[in-house]
Amino acid sequence: MSHTDEVTLHDLHPAADSIREDVLEGLSARPKHLPPKYFYDARGASLFERITTLDEYYPTRTELDILDTHADEMADAIGPDVHLIEFGSGSGLKTRLLLRALHSPSAYSPVDISRRQLVDFAADIARECPDLQVLPVCADYTSEMSLPEPDARPARRVAFFPGSSIGNFRPPHATAFLRRVRNLCGSAGALLIGVDLDKDPAILERAYNDDDGVTAAFNLNMLIRLNRDVGTDFDTAAFRHEAFYDAERQRIEMRLLCTQASRVTIPDPAGESPEIFELDIGDHITTEYSYKYSRSGFQEMAQKAGWKSARFWTDARSWFGIWLLEAG
Ligand code: AVI
Repeated sequence: MSHTDEVTLHDLHPAADSIREDVLEGLSARPKHLPPKYFYDARGASLFERITTLDEYYPTRTELDILDTHADEMADAIGPDVHLIEFGSGSGLKTRLLLRALHSPSAYSPVDISRRQLVDFAADIARECPDLQVLPVCADYTSEMSLPEPDARPARRVAFFPGSSIGNFRPPHATAFLRRVRNLCGSAGALLIGVDLDKDPAILERAYNDDDGVTAAFNLNMLIRLNRDVGTDFDTAAFRHEAFYDAERQRIEMRLLCTQASRVTIPDPAGESPEIFELDIGDHITTEYSYKYSRSGFQEMAQKAGWKSARFWTDARSWFGIWLLEAG
C-alpha cells in the first residue's frame, strides 16, 4: 500500500510490458499481428476518446443511454453497501452515472495498469464522493490479482466492466477473464458488463471506418508509437487502415494493409544484429479483433465461466447489451 494525497493505492506492481518481444513475436507470426494494448499511448488514448464521440461509433453513446435510463433499476438489482470494482477507468462518465445511483456503496476500486492516470482519477472520485472509500488498485486486470479490504465490511463485491472491452479478448481469453472475475468477487458476487451485440455488418463496418479517418489515425498511430518506443522504422505511408466484419467469427478485424513493398527493422537494444522483416504489397498486420455477441452466445460464455444472467438491459434497436451476472 502507498499513500498519495487523497487515496491509498493498492499497488500490485504490474510487470513492465515486454514491448520489443511482443512486436518481434507478432511480426514473426503468420498472419502478422500487433497487440491492441499498444494503441494506447497518450495520442492513442486521445484518438480513442475522439472515436467514442463519432456519429458512426455508436457503442459508447448507446451504452451511456442504457445506463442513464436504467441506472436506478441496476442499483436496486445490485443492492446496498457493495464494494464496486471497475476494470479500466476510462473517462469516468459511466462510473459517475452508476455511483450516483448505487445505494450507499461502501467502497469503490478502479483497477488500472496506468498508475498516474489511476491515482488522478481515484482522487477526483474521492473528492466528488466524500462518503465513499476509494481504494484504487494498480494492476494488470487480465492477470490474477487481489483486492484491498474496505474499512466497512461490504454486503458483496460487484465488478463493473463497461465499454465492451470484453470484445477485444478472443473468446477463450474472455471466458478465462470472466472466470477470474467470478473467483475475485466470490459466491455472493456480481458483474455488471457492457457488450456490443451482433448486428447488420454495414453498421458495424461504418463504426470502424469513420468518414473523418479518426479510426484510421488511431490504427496507424500504433506504428508511430512503436517507432518511438521500440526504435522500429515503419514507413507509415506504406500502410493503410482496413476494418471489416468477419460474420462467421462474429468479429471486426482491424488491420494495417501494406500498400508498398516495405522493410521494417527492430533494433537490438544490446547493439547487436537487428531483426529485419520484409512486407510485400497486400501483406497485412492484424492490430485488433472486436467480437460482437448474440444475447444467447454471451450468456453461454458467461455460464461456462460460472455466472448466471440475472438481468439484461438493451436499447430500442438492441445494438448494445448490459448484463447483470450473479455468481452461479
Ligand atoms: C476499446 N474497444 C472496446 C474498442 C472496440 O470497439 O473494440 C476499440 C476500438 N477500436 C477501434 N475503434 C474502437
